[in-house]
Amino acid sequence: MTVTSDMAITLDGYIAGPNVSLDNPGGDGAEPIFEWIHTLASWRQRQGMTGGEENRDSELIREWFDATGAVVMGRTMYDLGEEFWGDNPPFKTPVFVLTHRPRPTLVKEGGTTFTFVTDGIHSALDQAKAAAGDRNVDIAGGADTVQQYLREGLIDELQLHVVPALLGAGLRLFDGIGAEQRNLEAVGVVDTPLATHLKYRFVK
Ligand SMILES: NC(=O)c1ccc[n+]([C@@H]2O[C@H](COP(=O)([O-])OP(=O)(O)OC[C@H]3O[C@@H](n4cnc5c(N)ncnc54)[C@H](OP(=O)(O)O)[C@@H]3O)[C@@H](O)[C@H]2O)c1
Repeated sequence: MTVTSDMAITLDGYIAGPNVSLDNPGGDGAEPIFEWIHTLASWRQRQGMTGGEENRDSELIREWFDATGAVVMGRTMYDLGEEFWGDNPPFKTPVFVLTHRPRPTLVKEGGTTFTFVTDGIHSALDQAKAAAGDRNVDIAGGADTVQQYLREGLIDELQLHVVPALLGAGLRLFDGIGAEQRNLEAVGVVDTPLATHLKYRFVK
């Protein structure tokens, strides 16, 4: 059981632009962070779409989908994605949503369930581990959520899809993770014109 986090990020460390809202889920100027993935066959298949490129980027995203047995996300990411994901969301696994606002579990088509967890990050992770079987738990975002798991040392592997863009403002992934030194072992790099995919393992 590995706890992963896979995030698309600009070269200057942003995972979303400023002025995020329901109408502007990635924030201003965030197209370079998200649009590359929409061109990939593996991502499009999971969204129920056809077409797309079968390339190394697509393989990496397929590997991530296949390896993930449960997902944890923050309520903001959930709210921003809810309408876009529709009745058959791409996760196809149990998803545990951190929130202070209790609500009943939602059962969607294709194997995705959304369970709203109000008793903290450890509870969400324990529930996700129990649901994931022998596959990974992915901490899917956003920044607030990933930062909390990083602070507690609960992420084993981090994959960053570094897009060739500088945003200059927005939501930073590595703010607020505390001053404690974290050592990382570089696991691999895949470099394509779309993104440089960096995988690291935390040295415990
Ligand atoms: N680049 C990428 O790969 C990527 C991936 C995912 C998301 N994103 C972006 O990330 C942004 C959203 O990130 P974000 O940092 O603003 O928010 P977030 O992490 O998605 O959600 C934060 C919210 O989750 C709830 N929460 C978090 N920790 C909690 C805890 N311990 N207990 C109870 N509730 C908790 C709170 O909601 P309540 O108000 O319900 O308490 C909090 O306001 C979006 O713009 C999205 O596009 C980017």
